[in-house]
Amino acid sequence: MKLQRATINAALCFIVLLTAGPACCDSQPTLKDVFAKDFLIGAALNNAVVSDKDPNAAAIVQRHFSAITAENVMKWAPIHPEPNRYDFAPADRFVAFGEKNKMFIIGHTLVWHHQTPSWVFKDANGSDIGREVLLERMKDHIFTVVGRYKGKVKGWDVVNEALAEDGRLRKTRWMNIIGEDFIAKAFEYAHQADPDAELYYNDFSLDTEKEKCDGAVAIVKNLKSKGLRIDGVGIQLHGGLDYPDKESLEYAITALAATGVKVMITELDIRTRSWGYRGADINRINRQSTTDSGAADDETQQKLAQKYAELFSVFLKHKTDVNRVTFWGVYDATSWIGGSPLLFDRNYQPKPAFFAVVKTAQE
Ligand code: G3I
Repeated sequence: MKLQRATINAALCFIVLLTAGPACCDSQPTLKDVFAKDFLIGAALNNAVVSDKDPNAAAIVQRHFSAITAENVMKWAPIHPEPNRYDFAPADRFVAFGEKNKMFIIGHTLVWHHQTPSWVFKDANGSDIGREVLLERMKDHIFTVVGRYKGKVKGWDVVNEALAEDGRLRKTRWMNIIGEDFIAKAFEYAHQADPDAELYYNDFSLDTEKEKCDGAVAIVKNLKSKGLRIDGVGIQLHGGLDYPDKESLEYAITALAATGVKVMITELDIRTRSWGYRGADINRINRQSTTDSGAADDETQQKLAQKYAELFSVFLKHKTDVNRVTFWGVYDATSWIGGSPLLFDRNYQPKPAFFAVVKTAQE
């Protein structure tokens, strides 16, 4: 009788393993556990992950990550496409996924010069509006969006990518119409909308361009001089196989931490194509422009593993300042860039880089 039961149990286990998909068999240690004493580990989620359209990706998120960022659904264009119309359904699904899985939920992003519809800056005749009208529209948007998720979204990327590479403010429509204080106003409105939410400034190339990092330090100091709340700065860290170097990354972490804010790695991925534009401006880079025919080669995968291990050794060295590391995506097939940028491959399998990252924590 016992032999029969054992046989049946073994058969059932085999069937479960066969039918549950790749992520179920992940017997490796989980990222959120190996770094539990160091910093939150997160991922940016697309709409498919939180809409039951990519269950294997959702399984990876539930197993490995303790923080989630909305990759797109909370940007102005998708959530507020017309003056009197909001589309909250995708963002509601994102927040519900985070609450169900008891994750730290980050809203991305309230004020950005990309993915903001033109109507925001125009009057009914199509002419540019003035400072006061645009401030009113910014306030209405922030109060509506942040207010809806009050107490649920724990941190907001309030302003995204306001700096040019030389550390001066970009000449965006936000800047040209309102003036330099559009940043302060955005943080003021976000704090009024949810006094308990953490508020962040987020940008790319802070880890490679010293002047740009110094520009972010200046933004923090300016906000603090006005008595405004800012809790952290996001170093996006869209890196490559040979950048950022340790020194420039450590400069950014220490310079930003010295202002008294948390430092977060907010959009981590590593492009494997070794040439071309190194920033993250969507006008200059996308999946097509970063394809890499050698992405799956062992040599590439070993270089990727080495670079991720090097970056995580820096994060661990500065873990008193770094409080979160978020990957910009879950697995390679749905990354915003081509090549082999993340820890899980196109078939949801952990890559050598995954094991190299886990090893840094165990060392
Ligand atoms: O949802 C629409 C869909 O309805 C439409 O049919 C389709 C075709 O145009 O577009 C879809 O929207 C796309 C969206 O991703 C969702 O897939 C936008 O065109 C596309 O531009 C958008 O790209 C995102 C990009 O930001 C611009 O918002 C990327 O997925 C996203 O990874 C990228 O992330 C940015 C961060 O927010 C800020 N830091 C840099 C980072 C990389 O550029």
